[in-house]
Formats: sequence, C-alpha cells, structure tokens
Amino acid sequence: MTFSSLGTVAVIGGTGAEGSGLAWRWARAGLDVVIGSREAAKGAAAAAALNARLGAERIRGTDNRQAAAQAAIVVLSVPYAAQAAILADIAPELPGKTLVTLVAPLLGEKKGRYVPPPGGAAALEAQAQLGPEVTVVAAFQNVSAHHLADPDHPIDCDVLVCADTRAARETGIALAAAAGLRGIHAGALANAAVVEGLTAVLVAINAAYKVRGAGIRITGLPEEVR
Ligand SMILES: NC(=O)c1ccc[n+]([C@@H]2O[C@H](COP(=O)([O-])OP(=O)(O)OC[C@H]3O[C@@H](n4cnc5c(N)ncnc54)[C@H](OP(=O)(O)O)[C@@H]3O)[C@@H](O)[C@H]2O)c1
Repeated sequence: MTFSSLGTVAVIGGTGAEGSGLAWRWARAGLDVVIGSREAAKGAAAAAALNARLGAERIRGTDNRQAAAQAAIVVLSVPYAAQAAILADIAPELPGKTLVTLVAPLLGEKKGRYVPPPGGAAALEAQAQLGPEVTVVAAFQNVSAHHLADPDHPIDCDVLVCADTRAARETGIALAAAAGLRGIHAGALANAAVVEGLTAVLVAINAAYKVRGAGIRITGLPEEVR
C-alpha cells in the first residue's frame, strides 16, 4: 500500500502530544491531514501551528466530527477516559471507514503497573461500541510522544499493528511507514490487549532508567522487513 492511496487522515485529539507529532510527520510525508478537536478553533490553531513549522499549508483543523467526516482513515488520539464519549460523537461519520486507535489505557494508580480495562482492551471496547461497519486497527501505543515531537529524530521503536484482517493491518503499517516507523503485523485486534499493556511496561522502564522514550524492537524478522 502506498501513502497516496491512504486518502485523507483525520487525527481526533490531534491537538495533543501524540496526535500532533504524528500529524506533522504524516503531512510532511505528503498525506492530506485534518486535525480534530472538541473545539473547532483549537483544532484550527493546532493545524496553523504545525503548518508554520512545516512551512506549507498541508494540515487543516476543525472539530472532531467534521474531521472524521472529511477523512477515509480516522485516527483516535485521546485519553482513554475520553474514548467512549468522543467515539459516540464521531460514530455517525465512521461506517465504512477505518479507525486507527492509539489509545493506551493507563488505569493503575501507578501508570507503570498495568490494569486492563473492562472490555479487555481499549481497542476492543472501541470495536464493540462502533460495531462491525467500522474496521478498528490498534497501532502506535508504544511510540513515545517525546520522540514524535522532534520530526527529524529517527525513532528506535517498532509499531505493532493489530486488526482482524491483514488488509486492515496494512493500513496501520502504511501509516507507520509514512511517519518514518516500521509497522509489524501483530495479529488480531484481541492482541491489542498485550500491546496496550506493553505501554505500561515501557512507562515502568522509563521510570527505572530515568528516560522519556523507551521503545520496542522485534527481532528475527525476514530480510525484507528488517
Ligand atoms: N503521549 C505519549 O507518549 C503516548 C504514547 C503512546 C500512546 N499514547 C496514547 O495516545 C493517546 C493520546 O495521548 P496524548 O499524550 O496526546 O494525550 P493528551 O495530549 O492528554 O490528549 C490528546 C487530546 O485529547 C483531547 N481530549 C478529548 N477529551 C479529553 C479529555 N477528557 N481530557 C483531556 N483531553 C481530551 C484533547 O484535545 P481537544 O482539547 O483539542 O479536544 C487533547 O489535546 C492516549 O490514549 C495515549 O494513551 C500516548
């Protein structure tokens, strides 16, 4: 899958640390990007700030629902606590589309101690809420916003992509490639439980070693994906 075949990408919560870093990287790779916010003016301001850094008008900003309406691929980049309400808001715009969720639920009193959400994984809860007409893909949970903030910085972290079809995972892998990252087929959406849990492990590693962006690498892969 090529970047250009991805179409417009909406980043819901693209005003935040993780979403804005990815939006910047995707726009720089030539993707058409629209940032969504709970407030259209905040989305527009975030887009303007990223365009100023890009030196080009490549990103638009609006409210979450409008952003979802304009996109073929909708990326969910909001805190877990806000997930259900934000999905309820944008759900009418999602049938027939792919929702790529970055959400990592860090529910423990200590964020480095994993507590699974009631539905087993945030991504599974999203799929249950949205129903079968929306293809949910889990990706980017293990990539630190600290790294994304510097667009020229190579990121030493793989992107584990979980979804129930290979074609859906290919979308996540293409988005990872557009952001300068290696995406890896990581199995069914149910496996997002492990990937989301790994984020808590990385938080614990960050704390233990006093770093801000521990990541993961998969070894033993064939030459063509190394
Ligand atoms: N930060 C990381 O290093 C990192 C790494 C991997 C995965 N993730 C995951 O990516 C998602 C986004 O992370 P982030 O660090 O970018 O989060 P964030 O900055 O705290 O929030 C992202 C955006 O979510 C929107 N939002 C909607 N409802 C909200 C609410 N009730 N409270 C606060 N914000 C709300 C806000 O946008 P508006 O105000 O414009 O609506 C905010 O700018 C999270 O699920 C996180 O687990 C983060």
